[in-house]
Formats: sequence, C-alpha cells, structure tokens
Amino acid sequence: MKPMVLVVDDEPLQREIMKTILDGAGYETHTAGSGREALVLAAKFKPEVILTDLKMAGMDGIELLESLPATEVAPAVIIVTAHGTIASAVDALKRGALDYLTKPLDKDKVLFTVRKACERGEILKENVRLKKELFDRFSLEGIVGQSPRMTEIVNLLRKVAGASATVMLRGESGTGKELAARAIHYNSPRRARPFTAINCAAIPESLFESELFGHEPGAFTGAVGRREGLIEMTQGGTLLLDEVGDLPMAMQSKLLRVLQDREIRRVGGKEAVKVDVRIISATNKNLEIELEKGTFREDLYYRLNVVLIELPPLRERPDDIVPLVDFFLRKYNNEFGRRVRAVSPEALRALRDYRWPGNVRQLESVIERAVLLSEAEVLSLEDISSILFARRFDGRLQFELPDEGLDYEALERTVLQQALQRSGGVASKAARLLRMNYKAFLYRLEKFGIKDGGNEREGEESK
Ligand SMILES: Nc1ncnc2c1ncn2[C@@H]1O[C@H](COP(=O)(O)OP(=O)(O)OP(=O)(O)O)[C@@H](O)[C@H]1O
Ligand SMILES: [Mg+2]
Repeated sequence: MKPMVLVVDDEPLQREIMKTILDGAGYETHTAGSGREALVLAAKFKPEVILTDLKMAGMDGIELLESLPATEVAPAVIIVTAHGTIASAVDALKRGALDYLTKPLDKDKVLFTVRKACERGEILKENVRLKKELFDRFSLEGIVGQSPRMTEIVNLLRKVAGASATVMLRGESGTGKELAARAIHYNSPRRARPFTAINCAAIPESLFESELFGHEPGAFTGAVGRREGLIEMTQGGTLLLDEVGDLPMAMQSKLLRVLQDREIRRVGGKEAVKVDVRIISATNKNLEIELEKGTFREDLYYRLNVVLIELPPLRERPDDIVPLVDFFLRKYNNEFGRRVRAVSPEALRALRDYRWPGNVRQLESVIERAVLLSEAEVLSLEDISSILFARRFDGRLQFELPDEGLDYEALERTVLQQALQRSGGVASKAARLLRMNYKAFLYRLEKFGIKDGGNEREGEESK
C-alpha cells in the first residue's frame, strides 16, 4: 500500500505543486484548502503524514496540529513556513510537529523529510503492534471458558476494566481469581503501570506496615535506609489484595485508612504520600459470615465490595472442561515437547463428572502430569484416573467422595477386577497391588463372586 500524505495549503497553486511532486514519488496524495477541511480528510483517510502550511486564513497550521485527535498512531505533521519565520517553526516543533520545511520549497528536501516521517510512522505502528501482542497474553483471551457463566464473567471483566472501579473477586481456591485480577489490570488504562499482588494471609502482622507502606531510615531496628512499600511501588497501577478475608483486624483498620485517605505514611515518616492505585481484592471466604462473627470490618467490606465478581467452581460449569483441557494440553505439550493430541471419550467423561475440589488449578496439574507421564497420543481413562484417584500424597490416599455418594460395592468390585487384570490374573500380585493380605484378597474375590482366572498359584507367593 502506498503511504498517504495530506497536503494542506490555502493557495491552490502551492497545493498543486506539492501534489505533483508527491504523486510522482509514489505517494497517495490528498489536498485540503483549509485547516477545517484537513481535519475532515485526516479523519477519513488516516494519512501517515500531514504537510501543512503554517499561515492560513481561519485555522492555521499550529491550530490544525493541536486539533488532531490524539490517537496511538497519529499522523506525523510537517509544518511549512515562509523564510524568516523560524521562531514559529520552533514553536510548532514544541507543540508536537515532527519537522518543518521553509519556503521556497526544495523538491529533494520535501521528499527526504516526508520519507523520514513515513518511516517513523512505520516504527510507531510496529511498536503499537508489539505492545498489543504483549498485552494480549494477559488479556481476556487468556481466560478460557465457553460456559454461559464464564462468558458472562469475561464480559463483566471487560466492562469493569476500563473504569477504575474497586472490584472484589470471590471464588473457591483455583477458580481463577488472580488470573481475573491480571486480566482487569492488563485491559485497563493502567496496563503500562505495575500490577502487584499481596497475599494478605502470608505477611506477618509485624511486617505488614513496613511491607505495604515502606519505612524511613531508623524507623525500627533493622530499618536501614528508606524503603518504598508495595503500595508506593504500585503507583498508578493495580494492587491485588489476595486472601483479604485473612487479614487480621488491626491490619484491616490500617488498610481502611489508606483506602479512605488515598495516601500513606511510611513507618517512621511524617509526610503523607499521595497514592493512586486501583484496588482489587480476592477471597475464598464468605465475608458475610466473617462480618457476623465480627472478624471482618464492615466499613472495609463496603469499601472493597463495590463490584463483586463471583468465579463459579469448575464442577458447576462442565462445559468449560473441554476447552480448558485443550488449552492445557497445548501448554504442556509445548513445555515438555510432547505430542499428546487428545483425551479419550471415557477419560473426558471422567473429567466432566469429577468434582474438582481444587478447580481449574487442579485440572491444570492433572493434565500437566498426564502429558508428562503419558507415552500415548491420546490420554486414556487409566492415565487420568491413576492421577486423579490414586495420587499418593504424604503417604495417604487422597480420595474424594462425590456429593451424591457412590455405590461402594460396585467400586470395590471394579477395583478388585482391575487389580486382577493388571496382574495378568495372578491373585497374589493383584493383592500386592492393593497392599492387601493374600487371604483377605481371596476372601473378597469370593464374596463378590469374581473368578480369579486360576492363575493365582504362583508358588512362593501363595503363602
Ligand atoms: N478460565 C481459565 N482459563 C485458563 N486458565 C485458568 C482459568 N482459571 C484458572 N486458570 C489457571 O488455573 C490456575 C489457578 O488460577 P488462579 O491462581 O487465578 O486461582 P485463584 O482463584 O487465585 O486460586 P487461590 O484462591 O488458590 O489463590 C492458574 O494457573 C490459572 O492460570
Ligand atoms: Mg490466588
């Protein structure tokens, strides 16, 4: 595509000369006879460069320059001045013009200046593109989910991101609260400023103030030099108060003061420092209960809970399982250099039926382990269930009884049969798989009327 130049001059002859020069050099040239007309054409054509005469009747070149909307990739403005009005050219540069040319115009100089201006436009565009790519990684597209509830949440996040509203994120562990907080930040006008997450449950009470507000030299033993606190470091950005429900009462009042006054005082410091940070809080607690118990301040609660966004547990949105599994498969294939294509239909059914007490985080770690451990291209039910149900943890079996209960005898029968199958029908081996006494195992087989395949006599093992 040809670069576009808009020539603005109230003298028709000048316009024509410039147009001829620029057209001849391969530019797409438009002309305007006044500043007003130029504004209309600039909005319509979005030229790379505007070459405007300084002195014009009505709106002059500088007024035009200042009336252009401030967009990310604004056109470069070159001001043309009569010889001897260098002072106004300098003024134009100060107000944002890229360059100036003096009359009488020299053809080569015009072309050189315009070319440079176009190149700069290209660089600007490239910068904008790169920046966008970076932000997209944290954008709402990074939140996977196609269930109606997640779609609604993504829309809501997009809406609140633009405003500076204080948001409270609520949801069980692993539902994506921190992810949502980052998405808000990176889709807000604050995206170029810091995002800081503070885990309120993890900061010891004695350090809370100095961590958050910073300190002056000698404020307490060990306070060497001045230190900025996390809030000050986040200036202009977004602060996530994670696990806010776990904040001790004394800290709650200190935090409340910051939110009310929008300023902090470093420990040992006298002057107040103005702070401009957007507050997002996250909790997996039911704060209304904490209010009733008197362990959470009501005034702080209302300050934080301006817009409440509830992230639903994964078990309430089974439609998100498939896209999440795909997303994590891609992620961990990449990370581990594997080529796991899919999850078998039975395995998928098991994933959809599972209760997911650890929500998306747990699903992610199951897929991560399965991709790492599996040799197959398709993850089988066994791959998945061996991770989900038989995960040994601290030497104890982690097993989650579903809400709706289960048929225990059917489960036991399945376990016995699988153990037999896996050990090729050798009962003694199967018993060992189940960490079970051989006699007790045989007793159970009999109880459930399971045939052991007659392979059980393995000599030395059958005591
Ligand atoms: N909708 C989603 N799409 C993609 N990844 C997700 C989604 N929800 C959560 N995750 C991933 O799951 C993991 C846990 O999410 P996150 O840390 O945001 O949860 P959390 O609600 O803050 O949990 P906790 O209360 O335990 O701190 C992260 O790796 C996150 O990227
Ligand atoms: Mg979290």
